[in-house]
This record gives sequence, structure tokens and C-alpha cells, in this order.
Amino acid sequence: MEKRLNYLTAIQFLSKYIKKYKKNFIMFYLGWLFDTALAVVTPILSGIMVDEIIYYQNLGTFLRISLVFAILLVFSCILYFFIYAQHHYLMNRYTLDIRRDLFAHFQQCDAQYLSGASTGDMVVMFQDYSQECMHFVIRNVIHFINDILSMAAVSAYLFLMDWRIGMFILAAAPVSVYVNIVFGKRIRGYADRQRDHYGRYISWVFECLSGLRDIRMLGAEAKVNREFKESHRRMFAIDTSSGFSALTAENLVKFTNLLAQLAIFVFAGYLAKSGNITMGSLLVTVAFFSQLTSGIRGCSNKFLDAQNRVSYVQRVYDLLHSPTEGQWKGTGELHVTRGQVSFRQVRFAYDKGGNVLEGLSLEIPAGERFALVGRSGCGKTTLAYMLMGFYRPQEGEIWIDGQKLSECSLRSIRRSIGLVAQDVLLFDGTIKENILLGNKKASEEEVLSACRQSGLLEWIGSLPGGLDTVVGTGGMGLSGGQKQRIAIARIYLKNPRIIIFDEATSALDRETEESIHEAWGSVLAGRTSIMIAHRLSTVMLCGRAAVLEKGRIQEMGVPEEMGRESETFRTLFAIKKEAS
Ligand SMILES: Nc1ncnc2c1ncn2[C@@H]1O[C@H](COP(=O)(O)OP(=O)(O)OP(=O)(O)O)[C@@H](O)[C@H]1O
Ligand SMILES: [Mg+2]
Repeated sequence: MEKRLNYLTAIQFLSKYIKKYKKNFIMFYLGWLFDTALAVVTPILSGIMVDEIIYYQNLGTFLRISLVFAILLVFSCILYFFIYAQHHYLMNRYTLDIRRDLFAHFQQCDAQYLSGASTGDMVVMFQDYSQECMHFVIRNVIHFINDILSMAAVSAYLFLMDWRIGMFILAAAPVSVYVNIVFGKRIRGYADRQRDHYGRYISWVFECLSGLRDIRMLGAEAKVNREFKESHRRMFAIDTSSGFSALTAENLVKFTNLLAQLAIFVFAGYLAKSGNITMGSLLVTVAFFSQLTSGIRGCSNKFLDAQNRVSYVQRVYDLLHSPTEGQWKGTGELHVTRGQVSFRQVRFAYDKGGNVLEGLSLEIPAGERFALVGRSGCGKTTLAYMLMGFYRPQEGEIWIDGQKLSECSLRSIRRSIGLVAQDVLLFDGTIKENILLGNKKASEEEVLSACRQSGLLEWIGSLPGGLDTVVGTGGMGLSGGQKQRIAIARIYLKNPRIIIFDEATSALDRETEESIHEAWGSVLAGRTSIMIAHRLSTVMLCGRAAVLEKGRIQEMGVPEEMGRESETFRTLFAIKKEAS
């Protein structure tokens, strides 16, 4: 699955995106090719002009060539406009296409894979690496090819003009190619490290920025600042060593070229003095040689750059080829008629870490209100996500109304089961838009009815904008209870047969808690519900409760009885014996 890209395979991978804009790419390429040809032709024309006027004193030819020269210059100015318009268009469209694919992939990425990925890394990949892919195509492929072509044309011309000058050039080129290859490999290693560190660093900054309040509350400012400095220091060290290697490589090439340039001056001057070449040819030689050396230098930079950019392309490639939910085999339609849920001998472990569920078996009869309790980290949320098809059991099977979950399509699973997650996700938009996520086809009356059922109506009535009030990113400005009730309203609109409520651990005041329970009371009627409960009052809403511990259900019973008889249950909810 994992494929290490090299220069050619990176081009192969990106060509998929080029195909769509083939015409533009061809025009863009031809534009640059023409520009490259102009750069070769102009010194030749200048050489001819010098010879025509100095040796042959032919003013007519001189003026005619001057006119051609002027026309070419005007044309080249127009060409630049054309090239840059194409560049701009391609850069935008091409990057957009990669971003669109990345974004679509994020949506269907396997949850197991995503659980190990860092958000910052994904943001950098999405924003920057998509652009680097295009830079790779333009700078490291198109310009690279044109540089090579122009160097070949220039060398051929010099060879034809005087074989001794040609030989001279042949001797200088291999040295710089060798230097480039040796240093190129090193640079790639550094670039990979740089990328990894940068992704982790951005993730960390993200976390800090989203948790600024917690950092202050915990008095962790000094620690965070220290970590920031350390992170920067490491990045600086990697940057420096990578930059130093690149600089050394570049300078070695530059030095080789300068030496050769000096020698060619002396050599061509000698040939002109002894009458072997004309004055115009001397000028062409000097101009071409400096073109050639800067061409080699340009190629060497592009070669070193290419190493960096292949590693950016690699990251985009890896992500786009990471496992998706499309690999979920189930295609059947899940028909929930009664809402009976069974876990049979389910084992599950995250990629990193031991078993979270170890042969867990659990039967939840249709229509039951069932509480799942257990210490923090025992696997309750994991179990809920498995029921939603985010994670697959490594062993065992989940059944719903006699159908194997693994044989049903994810779409039908998520349509039939509603989950109110521990952290309610609210988008920057109006309250109505956020509630409509439950069912985008719902009418205004249905939204209002959902608000009534979830106890939101009074609060919404007090807002000047009503349902059209904007909640802001992440629901800033809303209380925990309000967010949860919006999530309940969503579920109400979605109307699934099975509901999972992953109760938030954050504390709510008694009144809010009661209003949420009231909201649940009306929404849950006639449905199977799994209440992952952190509060005793939530457990008490349920007909039965089970304690999850060490990957299995350890105890099960009626909540009131468990409160009297189960030590584990009492410890979990800090119930004193006499109080029960
Ligand atoms: N994405 C993940 N990758 C790796 N391990 C994870 C991941 N999510 C959870 N875990 C681990 O799996 C175990 C179960 O986590 P889970 O979130 O299911 O616990 P929980 O019972 O819901 O806890 P809480 O009551 O605090 O919400 C924990 O040990 C946790 O560290
Ligand atoms: Mg949880």
C-alpha cells in the first residue's frame, strides 16, 4: 500500500490532475518553450549584428536584423502576459482540484486512520502541500525540461561554432551533476524531518489556541511557553542543517561554474585574438556560457527543490491513498423495525494501544432505555462509535434486529441510528441551520416542534434573531446545556429508531440537567436508547444499566437495585451506602 514516490512516479501521480487542463498546460508549456527559444536566439542575433556592422560594414542587413530583434522583444512582452495569465489560471484550478479531493477524502477517511492523524498536519497538507504539488509541476518539471532543452541548444551551438569550446563545456557539466546528486539525497531526508516536525508543531499550536482559557486556568502559561521555545528550537535546528546542506551544494556548484566561466573568457579571448572566431562569436560564447552556467545552477536548484517537493507530493499521495470508509464491505440496507441491539464477543483495539473491548457481549431489547456506565476511558464512546460504523470490531459482531452491522451500508446505519456526541459540534451558522443538520428537508413547523420537544423554544423566543440567530464558530456563546439541546433537536428531526446519548462530562446546573432530561423523555419514547451516563440522574431515567469495565460488561441490572447492591455502581456515582 505504502509507496515511496520518486521524481517520475510523483509526475505520474500528478498527471491525473494535469489531464483535465491539458490544453492550458500545453499552451503554458509552449509559451515557456517560446520564451526559452527567444533567450537562445537573442544572443545569436546580437552576435550577427556585431559582425555585420564591424566586419562586413553591412548597414542594411544590420538594420533588418535590428527590426527582427525589436519585433521579437515586443512579442516576448506580450508572451509574458499570456504565460502569467495561464499560470494564474492553472495554479488556481489545479490547486483547487487537489484540495477538493483532499477535502472529499477527509470526509470518508477511515475513522481508525484519522484517530492517529494530527489536525495541524492535515491543515498544512490541505493548504500548503496542495500548492506545492502545482509548484512541483511548473518549477520542477516544466521549467526543468526547458532548462535542459535550452542548455542542449546552447551547447550544441557552441560545439558547432568551435569544438574546443564544446569540449570545455562537456568537462564542466558532470562535476556539478555529481555534486547535485550527492547533496540532493541528504536534502530529502532533512525535508521529511522538517515536514513531520512542522505538522506536529502546527497541531500543538492549534491545541494551545483552542485551549487558551484552560491554559490560564491551569496556570500552565510558563510550561506552554517553554514547550513553544523548545519546539521552535528543534525546528530551527532542522531548518539550519537542511539549509546549510543546500547552501553547501549550491556554492560548490557555483564555484565550479565560476572557475569554468573565467577559463572560457580567457580561452575564447585567445581564439578571437588568433582569428579563429569572430568578435560576434566571442560575444555569443561569453553570453551563452553564462547562460549555460546559470542554467546548470538553475537545474541544480530545481533538482534540490524537487527532492523537497517530492516529499510534499508524497504526503498528499499518502493521504489520498489512506484507507477510506469505502472499504467497509457492507452494502445491504439496515432496516430497523424494532430496534434490538446485540454485541456478541466484540473485541476492538485502536491502532496504537491494547484492547479497549475484549469479547464484550451485550443484549439490548427493542424499545429499552439502557444506561451504559463505567469509569472514564473504559471504552463507552468507542462502543458508541462502533455502533455508528466508525470502527469495525476486530473480532465478534454487532447485530441490529437480526442483521449483521458489518453487512449493512454505512449510509443506512447512520440514517437509522442517531448519536448525540459528548462534544456537540456546532457550525458557524444560524440555530436553524444547525438544527436542520438532523434533516435538511424539515419544514419550519417541524423545526419549531423539535425545539419545543428539546426545551429550546423559550430560549429561542428570548433571542432577538430567534431561530436565525448566528451561533458562531463552535457554538461560542452558547452554554453546554443549550448545545446539548440543539443536538437533541437534531436527533428529533432525524427521527431514528435507535438513539445513543454520550453524555458530556461537564457539570450542568440542576435546572438545566432537569430540562435536558425532560427533553429526552419526550424524544426517547418508543425508541431503543443507549444512554452513556455520567450522572446518576441520567441513569435513573433508564430501565436497566450495565457497567463496562476491562473491556466487558461486568454487571447489569435495574438502576435502583444496583444502587443498593452493587459496590462498583455505588463507587462510580459516589453513593453512600446508607443514602441508598
Ligand atoms: N482515537 C483514539 N486512538 C487511540 N486510542 C484511543 C482513541 N480514542 C480513545 N482511545 C483510548 O481508548 C480507551 C477508551 O476511550 P473512550 O473514549 O471510549 O472512553 P470513554 O469510556 O468514553 O471515556 P469517558 O467517560 O471519559 O468519555 C481509552 O483508553 C482511550 O485512551
Ligand atoms: Mg466518552
